[in-house]
This record gives sequence, structure tokens and C-alpha cells, in this order.
Amino acid sequence: MIERLVPSSATFSGDIDFVFSLIFWLVGFWFILSEAVFFWLILRFRRKSPGQRAQYVTGELKSEKRWITIPHLLVLVCDVFIVFFAVRVWYDVKQALPTAPDQRVVRIEAQQWAWTFTHPGPDGVLDTADDIKKVNELHVEVDKLYHFQLTSKDVLHSFSVPVFRLKQDAVPGRVIVGWFHPTRTGEHDIQCTEICGIGHALMPARILIETPEQHAAWMAENATLSVAAVADR
Ligand code: CUA
Repeated sequence: MIERLVPSSATFSGDIDFVFSLIFWLVGFWFILSEAVFFWLILRFRRKSPGQRAQYVTGELKSEKRWITIPHLLVLVCDVFIVFFAVRVWYDVKQALPTAPDQRVVRIEAQQWAWTFTHPGPDGVLDTADDIKKVNELHVEVDKLYHFQLTSKDVLHSFSVPVFRLKQDAVPGRVIVGWFHPTRTGEHDIQCTEICGIGHALMPARILIETPEQHAAWMAENATLSVAAVADR
């Protein structure tokens, strides 16, 4: 359902969509049911003849209390379901940090009001001469595990990639390590999702999820440029 609105392009996006749907259907069910009962009661016990007085119900009788406790318990059971699945997905996305022999790394720096993405270049290591820095443009290869190092140069920002269902705050003074694993090629939006000043809305970027060939070509072209730029200094 959600995939039709925003494509799902990371390994964990389906799990997050599942939790979204679970909440939507459970809450939706209780919403429709309670509204239906509410309107039925309004019509059922409306004033039918002039002079008829409304009944004053205190809810203190045992039989009346059941109207409160039983639905409460049923809603609680639904909550336990939601929390169970939500915690599992949250742990997988935010707490676990999977590793793979060919994993990649990228540094993400937020500032008022732009994103700087540092790609390691052909050697796969950050902070070397062949690093490729791009403003508002993140290049990744499909079907590879990525660790990101997210930080901010000034205030709080939030790195959000809707196609991944990934959102992570960037905190000045901290390097937050997280992961994603793109599953589908394409070019999509990245948007800051933390109010960070007057230019907050003007802080969009693009993520380009490329095939291995496209990514290698992009890297070859840009790494030579970076090395040349460093040599020039
Ligand atoms: Cu950066 Cu909002």
C-alpha cells in the first residue's frame, strides 16, 4: 500500500511499512468501531418524546464498568502487538549494525543549509586523497551494505531518505553511525526533517542509487578530479 506512494528501496523499508500498516489497521479498526457505537448510542437514546429526561449514568455499577475495562484490555492487547513489532524493527534499523565483507562507508555532514557527502573513492577509505566530496548529492551502489557517519557542523538537522524509510538526527559534536542497504536503483529525494533555521525547507539533496557499472564510472571520473585537486594545492 505505502509502496505505491513511495517506492521501497532498502532492505528494512518493508519492515517499517509493515509496522505502519499494522498501526493503521489496528487504530483504524478501533476508530471506526468506537465512532459507530458512539453515533448508534446518540440515535438510540435520543429524546423521543417531549418532557423525557436524559438518564444520568455515573459508570459506577459493575455492569457499566465492563464497558470500560473490556475495550481497554482489548486495546492493550493491540498495543502489545504494535510494541513487539516496532521494537524489533527499531532494534534492527537503529541498534544493530550489520557488517559485510564488501561493506561501504560514507560521511554525511549537515550544515545550515546543505549536505556534504564524502565518498571514500576507489580505495574505499575515508580521509585519503581520492575522497569524493559532493554537495547535496549522495552516490551509492545498489545491493551493497553502507555504514554512514552522520554529523552536523552547527545545529540539529535530520537526515531523511523516504525511499529507505530512514530518518536520523544529526547532532553537532557527535558522529552517529548507522546503516542502509539499497535494493533498487533510482534517483530520489533526501530532505532535512528537523527545523534548523530559515533555510530548513531549502535543504533538499538527491540520492543516486547506481548499478555497479554506473557507480564505477562515476567514481573513476570523480576520483581523478579529487586527486588532481589535492595535488594542485
Ligand atoms: Cu537542516 Cu532542517
